[in-house]
Amino acid sequence: MYKNILLSASVMCMDWFDIKNQMNVIEKSEIDYLHFDIIDGYFAHDFTMGSSIIDVFRQNSKLPSDYHLMVEEPARIFDTFNTNKFDNITIHQETSRNLHRNIMSLKNKKVKVGVALCPATPISTLEYILDDLDLIIIMTVNPGFKGQPLVPQALRKISDLKKLINRMKLKAKISVDGYVNLNTIPEMVSAGADILVLGSTGLFQKNKSIQESIIEIKESIDKGLK
Ligand code: DX5
Ligand code: ZN
Repeated sequence: MYKNILLSASVMCMDWFDIKNQMNVIEKSEIDYLHFDIIDGYFAHDFTMGSSIIDVFRQNSKLPSDYHLMVEEPARIFDTFNTNKFDNITIHQETSRNLHRNIMSLKNKKVKVGVALCPATPISTLEYILDDLDLIIIMTVNPGFKGQPLVPQALRKISDLKKLINRMKLKAKISVDGYVNLNTIPEMVSAGADILVLGSTGLFQKNKSIQESIIEIKESIDKGLK
């Protein structure tokens, strides 16, 4: 955490040939969560990782997990994952025929429950479930792939959602996922982001160390809080 902004490191964007060293750096930094992108090949047309890989990270890290399920009818795999009360599980609004039922199932697992919105999905789709959520992921790229360009109009959703959460006097946190980097963090933070998902354009850049990136990310947060 840096100045009340929580930081979630996107595991799919790490250098997989250097995981051990990168994890050592992350564990000693301000990072609050490991963000696991789980993709089913349908909702997003690729595959990332499942429970056997994720459990290796959980066994070797003290950081809580920030599960992001990009999976059709995600309830099919809720019990696949090891969780505790410090972990987030976020499902997509677009993937559940019965979103409320799925949210209730996750609540029974005693995790923190989130819903993610693709860039094209309006905030109004959350109107009757917002009270039940611990977090909302605003996707600022289309889900599934790292290193994609920003969908700029999605940024507006952060401030719109913040206003709605304040008006309803709720505690839900706003997480932002996709193209979160020096160019976008100031605007995201000033719009009301509480959690930043840091991926290939922010924390795990090719020609920069994680330590250097973290210094720049903190400077960008400062700019957003001014
Ligand atoms: C996108 C993933 C993100 C990924 C994006 O579907 O959900 O977790 O980390 O990070 P960037 O855009 O910086 O590569
Ligand atoms: Zn994600």
